[in-house]
Amino acid sequence: MPDRPYTLLSCGMSLDGYLDSAAPRRLELSNEADFDRVDAVRAACDAIMVGAATVRSDNPRLVVRSQARQGERTARGLPPSPIKVTVTERVELDPCANFFTTGETEKLVYCASPRIVHARSRLGSVATVVDGGQPVEMRTITEDLSTRGVSRLMVEGGGKVSTQFLTDNLVDELQLVVAPFFVGDSRAPRFVRDGRFPWNPGRRATLAEVRQIGDVVLLRYALSTRFES
Ligand SMILES: NC(=O)c1ccc[n+]([C@@H]2O[C@H](COP(=O)([O-])OP(=O)(O)OC[C@H]3O[C@@H](n4cnc5c(N)ncnc54)[C@H](OP(=O)(O)O)[C@@H]3O)[C@@H](O)[C@H]2O)c1
Repeated sequence: MPDRPYTLLSCGMSLDGYLDSAAPRRLELSNEADFDRVDAVRAACDAIMVGAATVRSDNPRLVVRSQARQGERTARGLPPSPIKVTVTERVELDPCANFFTTGETEKLVYCASPRIVHARSRLGSVATVVDGGQPVEMRTITEDLSTRGVSRLMVEGGGKVSTQFLTDNLVDELQLVVAPFFVGDSRAPRFVRDGRFPWNPGRRATLAEVRQIGDVVLLRYALSTRFES
């Protein structure tokens, strides 16, 4: 069986399990201390992945923010920030989005086979476009990343991508940050969508750590025997 990277799924959610509000403006769930913790987690990974909807709605930079951490990476012969990875079927991605224009690092777009020609013409100058098959499966992506030297992958959402990683049993570690407020609007995106999850009332996940960070709480779950405490 091909190798796959150690995979860490990181996500912030409200007390009622939402990733965002339903409004166009991105909802800040975490606090500065936790953003800095996430920055350190990013700096320790080889690749960071988000879904195309997150690239469109949040326009994230997905780079290591701390100069010191960037410097530590370059001293180890690594790019200042991890490789950026996204996945799309429709290819409605703007080549001017921060995902493509920021950070001196490789950008990978896994695209469903039927749209590959369109994807290469639209994004080929700003990213490496990889034929992900039809349908694109997260396991295929992780195995391909492994062949590209990625041994530690951080998945940063959103809900559709997180659901597939979890239901396909590809996550070794879940880092869930809970913000101290409610969103209270079912039009907003949830942490995960419907699915058959390997962890259920008959098979409970292992809670490995609970850490208070100011007004939020970090919950770390070990989801495989590869979990690194
Ligand atoms: N709180 C947090 O930690 C956090 C983190 C990240 C995101 N978010 C929020 O999450 C929301 C977005 O989440 P979301 O669930 O709507 O979307 P998402 O998971 O970010 O992206 C979904 C999109 O990714 C592509 N995709 C996913 N699986 C695919 C597959 N198997 N094959 C081909 N393409 C695939 C499709 O792109 P195309 O439509 O281009 O085909 C799909 O529409 C935003 O509101 C964002 O702010 C929150």
